[in-house]
Amino acid sequence: MADMTDAPFCRTVKSLASPIIFREMVSSEAIIRGNQKTLNMTKIHKDEHLLIQQIFGKDPDTMAKAAKIIEEQFYPDGIDINMGCPVYKMISNFNGAALMKDPGLACRIVQKVKSTIAIPVSVKIRAGWSDPNECIEFVKSLESAGADLISIHGRTKVQAYSGKANWQVIAQAKKQVSIPVLANGDIFSADLALQALDQTKCDGVLIGRGALGNPWIFSQIEDTLCQKSLRPVSIQERVYIIKQHLNFHIQQYGPKSVIRFRKHLCWYLKGLPNIKNLRMKMVQVLTVEEVETILDELRSSFSTSSNNV
Ligand SMILES: Cc1cc2nc3c(=O)[nH]c(=O)nc-3n(C[C@H](O)[C@H](O)[C@H](O)COP(=O)(O)O)c2cc1C
Repeated sequence: MADMTDAPFCRTVKSLASPIIFREMVSSEAIIRGNQKTLNMTKIHKDEHLLIQQIFGKDPDTMAKAAKIIEEQFYPDGIDINMGCPVYKMISNFNGAALMKDPGLACRIVQKVKSTIAIPVSVKIRAGWSDPNECIEFVKSLESAGADLISIHGRTKVQAYSGKANWQVIAQAKKQVSIPVLANGDIFSADLALQALDQTKCDGVLIGRGALGNPWIFSQIEDTLCQKSLRPVSIQERVYIIKQHLNFHIQQYGPKSVIRFRKHLCWYLKGLPNIKNLRMKMVQVLTVEEVETILDELRSSFSTSSNNV
């Protein structure tokens, strides 16, 4: 997820469980121009594997060159192609979900990337541009073009994030292909992950927003799949993981980057009861020490009161 699933976030997730991670998308054009900021976004810490780097773009040659550069410089375990992003800045350039309107071009991108790199190539799509049934034919074309895996967000581009993800249409698309398919959309708990697997018969689930402030969701899914009972996350563990995430963040971006970490703090605190004051302080933090003081306050307020997480 753009601006969220960077290396510090992925390392945090991997410290708790072992899902395959899809890193936030990067521009293929920026990669081949040698844009340092974009190249830095594709650096991988050894603890993040298995990790797939997502790229976006509309030109098959540029996409293939970018995939090759990333493969040779940063050693991801796969390259994912974004054909699902509905944001205007993307689709107005015929990137992201716009590619679903031109299956021929979408397939040429997959073919070119696949024939240029040695690692697997996956594709992230939506149910369709405006009709949720579009993905049913589209996945067949992508498979023929050489895609090794497809993730489907069960909403159309037109829906953006409105309504509910359509898991039934994902189930139909899954039946059309023999490559693995991941179901995506509205999976916010281990229970919902199991329901999605059951309803779509997919090979796995892809979790987006459900992981924000909640990196425990992956171990909870793993435990549920192994029929282990769910263990609630204690406030001590929550604070420990937030501090660890912050530490990875500072290692990567430097001490002045605490402001950029505020968005993660908001997600981590979401839903905790009676913490209005602490939340107000959290959105203004400037230093690591300030964050740590507030987190210690949070921990003691939960240990001394009847607040349960
Ligand atoms: C802030 C944000 C950033 C996102 N960035 C990406 C991205 O870089 N690549 C991508 O394939 N999807 C991206 N998505 C879409 C998610 O991967 C996912 O398909 C969508 O949120 C639905 O799944 P969910 O209900 O599990 O969140 C993003 C979503 C959000 C909310």
